[in-house]
Amino acid sequence: MPAVSKVCCIGAGYVGGPTCAVIALKCPHVQVTIVDLNQDRIDAWNSPDYKLPIYEPGLKDVVRQARGRNLFFSTNIDQAIQDADLIFVSVNTPTKKSGVGAGFAADLKYVESATRRIAKVATSNKIVVEKSTVPCRTAESMRTILEANSRPNCRFDILSNPEFLAEGTAISDLFNPDRVLIGSLQTPDGIAASNALRDIYANWVPTDRVLTVGLWSSELSKLAANAMLAQRISSINALSAICEATGANIDEVAHAIGYDSRIGPKFLRASVGFGGSCFQKDILNLVYLSRSLHLPEVADYWEQVVIMNEYQKRRFTKTVVDTLFNTITGKHIAVLGFAFKADTGDTRESPAITLVKDFLQEKALVNIYDPQVEREQIWADLAEAMPSVPSSDIQKQVHITSSALECCRNAEAVVIATEWREFREIDWELVYAGMNKPAFVFDGRLLVDAQKLRGIGFQVTVIGRGE
Ligand code: NAD
Ligand code: UGA
Repeated sequence: MPAVSKVCCIGAGYVGGPTCAVIALKCPHVQVTIVDLNQDRIDAWNSPDYKLPIYEPGLKDVVRQARGRNLFFSTNIDQAIQDADLIFVSVNTPTKKSGVGAGFAADLKYVESATRRIAKVATSNKIVVEKSTVPCRTAESMRTILEANSRPNCRFDILSNPEFLAEGTAISDLFNPDRVLIGSLQTPDGIAASNALRDIYANWVPTDRVLTVGLWSSELSKLAANAMLAQRISSINALSAICEATGANIDEVAHAIGYDSRIGPKFLRASVGFGGSCFQKDILNLVYLSRSLHLPEVADYWEQVVIMNEYQKRRFTKTVVDTLFNTITGKHIAVLGFAFKADTGDTRESPAITLVKDFLQEKALVNIYDPQVEREQIWADLAEAMPSVPSSDIQKQVHITSSALECCRNAEAVVIATEWREFREIDWELVYAGMNKPAFVFDGRLLVDAQKLRGIGFQVTVIGRGE
């Protein structure tokens, strides 16, 4: 199989954009075209002043170096498909909202329409790579669609190459991945296609970090990795509830158990709950897969990870209400952070959305500040979370501010919902001076120095600390 010289990526989102921009940077001899149906998104990727559609540390530098050299963003999907030797399918795979499997199964309509497009317009052989996170055996459906709809002289080799980057650290994760996983059919053609993709990564990833496995193992490994990561967070969050009831300290517990080299210290940070576009969706997908395979005990096991996450968010709201003398009606709550984690402007499944919704249902007045999330995004998320409440009513109860200090002014309580570093570094004395007393801080991210804040006069509640 000849070396790949032209790559197309369908889907210019959080994964397709950074992943293929890094491929372009690291492989100057390969032409990379990232395409999307969304004209606004492509315009933003092409913006002369690099106002990219997503905020990701280091991304601008990568795009600045490669764009116009061997990296292109376009809405001309058909042309990019025709030109490419290898096509990444990196479209969204959200949880189905209606029909069979609603609330659990992945909605594969975007994967299917991208696949049909490839079949329709391709005039030469292609390697088609699943980059999106998909249910086990999706590659088989893609193959059936491609073979049933393509021109007779076109051959398609399908690979699975799931992405493991985390938002906020996407560029360093891509520069220095723990591993790159490539799944293929174990046939001579499948192995040749896998080698062609491996050769692209070999431009910067050490060969012992490129794992080549069977197609179905690769697809399942992606769901399994996210399920195991999320399960760690639900485990530590479950323990945080025990800490609060007993006087144990979750930081100390995490430190003590993480010292065991079999457990390890990472991903044991108790929080107000995990968010992000993928953990919940991928676990629900695994739950659906398990039920479809008549494995109800397995399904229930994984579903508990999501149930625990919901419990953690609700438990946090209840702590806020209980501590503020059992009512927050008419009280001002300052919510610091709206993104699902620090260093991203992404709010998909952000725990802050659930918290704000709960506070509004308790008739609190909520101020929100996030250094990266656009105001329009916050309004859109709240409208979506409360479809039966008119937007004008939401806007009467919510005020979006341009600084953390402004957010906290005249509030009764500050809730830390995202672990932005700037929240640790704000002038807490000034915050205290501007708040109604008694002034409360609820740290849902183990971010602030509780002792220092108590010294200033705050009443501080930290997740997982039964002080
Ligand atoms: P996204 O919503 O940010 O981007 C998907 C893009 O695909 C959108 O811009 C959409 O317009 C485009 N698209 C949809 N159908 C199309 C079509 N037929 N033709 C052209 N463009 C089309 O999604 P994302 O966060 O980049 O996630 C993509 C996939 O990667 C998902 O399966 C997700 O589970 C997986 N994933 C995401 C992350 C992450 O950190 N966000 C990490 C690893 C894996
Ligand atoms: C996660 C995985 O880490 C990636 O490997 C994967 O590729 C990606 O999902 C995906 O498939 O989309 P991401 O969601 O971007 O990445 O970010 P994480 O750092 O995993 O954080 C997810 C959520 O868990 C955040 O809300 C974060 O605040 C929370 N979290 C994380 C904790 O509450 N505690 C921790 O110890 C770690």
